[in-house]
Amino acid sequence: MCGIVGYLGYQNPKDIIVSGLKKLEYRGYDSAGVAILDQGKTKRIRAQGKLKELEDKLQGETFDGHLGIGHTRWATHGKPSERNAHPHQVRGINLVHNGIIENYLEIREELLTEGAVITSDTDSELVAHLIANEIEVTQDLFKAVERTLSKLRGAFSILVMWENQPDHLVAFKDGPPLVVGLGKNEMFVASDVQALIQYTKRFVYLEDREIAYIKGTEVSFFSANGFPIHKKEVELNWNPEMVEKQGFAHYMLKEVYEQPRAVASAIEPHINPDTFSVSLKNIGFGGQSVQKLEELNTAEDWLKTQEVFKKIERVFIVACGTSFYAGTIGKYLIEQLARVPVEVDIASEFRYRKPVVPPNTLVVTISQSGETADTLAAIRLAKELGATTLSICNVRNSTIDREAQGHLYMNSGPEIGVASTKAFTSTLAVINCLSIAIARTREVMSIETEKELVTALLAVPSQMEGVLAFDKYFEEAAAGLKLFRGFLYMGRGISYPIAMEGALKLKELAYMHAEGYAAGEMKHGPLALIDERMAIVMVAPTDQWYDKTISNLEEARARGGKIISIGTGENEKLRSISEYYLAMPKTHWTVSAIISVIPLQLMSYHLACSLGYDVDQPRNLAKSVTVE
Ligand code: M6R
Repeated sequence: MCGIVGYLGYQNPKDIIVSGLKKLEYRGYDSAGVAILDQGKTKRIRAQGKLKELEDKLQGETFDGHLGIGHTRWATHGKPSERNAHPHQVRGINLVHNGIIENYLEIREELLTEGAVITSDTDSELVAHLIANEIEVTQDLFKAVERTLSKLRGAFSILVMWENQPDHLVAFKDGPPLVVGLGKNEMFVASDVQALIQYTKRFVYLEDREIAYIKGTEVSFFSANGFPIHKKEVELNWNPEMVEKQGFAHYMLKEVYEQPRAVASAIEPHINPDTFSVSLKNIGFGGQSVQKLEELNTAEDWLKTQEVFKKIERVFIVACGTSFYAGTIGKYLIEQLARVPVEVDIASEFRYRKPVVPPNTLVVTISQSGETADTLAAIRLAKELGATTLSICNVRNSTIDREAQGHLYMNSGPEIGVASTKAFTSTLAVINCLSIAIARTREVMSIETEKELVTALLAVPSQMEGVLAFDKYFEEAAAGLKLFRGFLYMGRGISYPIAMEGALKLKELAYMHAEGYAAGEMKHGPLALIDERMAIVMVAPTDQWYDKTISNLEEARARGGKIISIGTGENEKLRSISEYYLAMPKTHWTVSAIISVIPLQLMSYHLACSLGYDVDQPRNLAKSVTVE
């Protein structure tokens, strides 16, 4: 949720930390701060609000030192304010923190009894106090951090510096991600590689309960109880341009436009375009570490994957938010194509509802970030319950990716906008491949059907480009939506989750009330809401659910609801009953959702822009939800 950056090296820490925080602002943006050494003392500057406020305060500030840490916050304990902003400073210790200290009330009581002066409402400051107390004994930052860890409970990551040891930096992870960037004569730490990719491509990912101890230009790694451990370095092939806006007004818009390429990259590893067949590539069910997946023998690995698919009797798909809606579409695809029963669960429900997970269950988790706390807990629980786990992630080497037994990738490239777009459509493409692969392995799908579905899938990227070319119509439709009191998004079958996704996009971007409903449910309640101030957004491609959807649309229209419909090609019926009719290309039903979500994404985007909202960083939200 929060973003952490740290630097120790020969360059100016201020520029590196601020540029890193900019890349991490998606993780939280209600306050920000830096602590940087300046002639042996720490200068701490913090500001409430977006990073821009901090940047303004930093204008003209100079620092004569080479060590610093920075933070961008998404408030958990204590409201957004400068006094609650990080870094927290206690007697020369400066600390930034991401996550939650569960036993903070006890710690606070103890510290107050000892006479500590606590200046914020955060759990984070308490950790700085504990370390400052320990350092009085140890006179060493690393030892002080190590001794403090046993007193803390929760899921958290910290990065700490001490002005008396200006060439030391200590990081600890137990939950939210932290990565060490290895430079030439310089060292970096951040919550996400995006913050550092312009400085280095060499990284070491911390696992839970691991410490990184940076001393000068060296880094060593330890377990939480101080035993040295060996860590593998990973080299990434991203380039810095991948995380820039590239001329688009917003990251979200850029990411919406990147969807054709993202979908193509998602399916590319798994599809043979000569035979129009699917074989999943390098999934790793054999137990290989994520870093070694590329080195697998693809044919042997595919045989192992098929063994898993042959055995499964049930699939659970577990995820949150937009990823959950992608999973709901997965249920339609896997059940209809592969005839395996599928349950879809919101991760925060799955983990606490004591799910019955029978033998031979495959649990598929979906997470763009690979760090969502509830989804991570769900995958851990699934493993405990004896299920085989398969993750669909965008961020390789993320915690969920590392902990899963099998690995599929969205291959969307970095997604910065808080509203998920390209990761969603890429996931739908991956789930298409997965469904076909399970169906073919279990011999419930013919080669002809496989060819038909692969052909449909291969056509999607260019069809998406065609739809994106009509953006001006989506913008026009969005302009007409401002005056409505509420929005009911509806669809049937595979378009029902798309309706839910469309409603979520409108809520998070335009802050308007919207509900996503199965169209058949309308007369069981929501119909009462409909009048001329209610907009009905109906996703109605010409598929096996179309006729029933049209009946629902007529019922809504008869009650005065204003219709915005999304259908297939020139559809006179839909055009005549809709205020706005948005025509999509003809597709196979299995891929129609990948196409029909585009107008919904873009309408919400344009509406939010015209209302003056921050589309990349909607209020109260964060990109990566690493707390429950
Ligand atoms: O990183 P994840 O896919 O696990 O994130 C799950 C949700 O937090 C995410 O999809 C959220 O709903 C998005 N803001 C939706 O646009």
